[in-house]
Amino acid sequence: MATVLAIETSCDETSVALVEERRVLAQTTASQVRDHAIYGGVVPEVASRRHLETLNPTLAVVLEAAGRPWSAIDAVAATCAPGLVGALWMGLTCAKTLALVHRKPLIGVHHLEGHVCAAYLTEQDLAPPFLCLLVSGGHTSLIGVEALGQYQILGQTRDDAAGEAYDKVARLLGLGYPGGPVLDRLAQQGNPQAFPLPEGQISLSGGGYHPYDMSFSGLKTAVLRLVQRLTSQGDLPIADLAASFQATVIQALSRRALACAQDHGYSTIVVGGGVAANRGLRHHLQSEGARRGLRVIFPPLAYCTDNAAMIGCAAAGRLALGQTSALTLEAQSRLPLTAADQLYV
Ligand code: KG4
Ligand code: ZN
Repeated sequence: MATVLAIETSCDETSVALVEERRVLAQTTASQVRDHAIYGGVVPEVASRRHLETLNPTLAVVLEAAGRPWSAIDAVAATCAPGLVGALWMGLTCAKTLALVHRKPLIGVHHLEGHVCAAYLTEQDLAPPFLCLLVSGGHTSLIGVEALGQYQILGQTRDDAAGEAYDKVARLLGLGYPGGPVLDRLAQQGNPQAFPLPEGQISLSGGGYHPYDMSFSGLKTAVLRLVQRLTSQGDLPIADLAASFQATVIQALSRRALACAQDHGYSTIVVGGGVAANRGLRHHLQSEGARRGLRVIFPPLAYCTDNAAMIGCAAAGRLALGQTSALTLEAQSRLPLTAADQLYV
């Protein structure tokens, strides 16, 4: 069983983990949320600097907590795409240096492959084929997973990602960054039927709508108009707004994921990414899946948002396939998940 030291720095979390195949031996995640909150979003240059300051102490904590010598570590992995390119370079350069000094193979990991693999950390028997609903701050997709590295994008957002919609709506309600957790909390106290909001649909040229593609920018604009109207009337029922917005997002995601799984014959839906931490989505999709005889798997909260354990788990899978990366591997701000095989020699 391979033991992998993994680093994740694609956005605003500096995360380091030591994993043995699917078992997390130690993980530490240093969040930069407070550094970016004053700007209302992630500032790339600030993120890179914080990663640089935080990586060494985080590494030291993880190696100490895991209590494994370097001789027991088989490979060093880092997220290398997609993400903020300066932030990615911090983790990747650190991983390359460790790989070179300790003579270990380097494994670059596609960030979204990490999110797909997060559920493996607690579901030891889980194996493809399955449908992955990937919902994060930068991506929202329905991915047919046939094997590690074999992906088919069956549906995706045409504009904002689901997490991005949460962050934008939270900002316009003056709730700060990141928006997901606070809106999720407020939604529990509000009435989801208080305000009917439009669920974005993608029209097809021959008529009708795309069954799995989605759109969240219209929803965000509808919330903006509603907030402007309610503010002019002097009343802003924030909990009801949060609940109505959240119910619309959950409906849009769940309806498509359930239809996509059933149409393509997948009996399991695996959810990944920061929005998978959403309490409303977890409850709704799990119960609707069960009603249709589908297994719906959500990773524990610590493995939904960005974390190094999921990167280590994906890297262990790549190593088992005999795949490693060249030390000349570059960080890339964009790379489709379907091109993840390019990262290996
Ligand atoms: O996967 P992630 O940590 O980073 C990216 O790869 O983007 O996802 C971050 C996103 C943010 O947009 C955040 O607002 C959202 O996940 N998020 C949530 C919740 N927790 C985090 N969205 C809805 N409900 C939550 N509980
Ligand atoms: Zn992510």
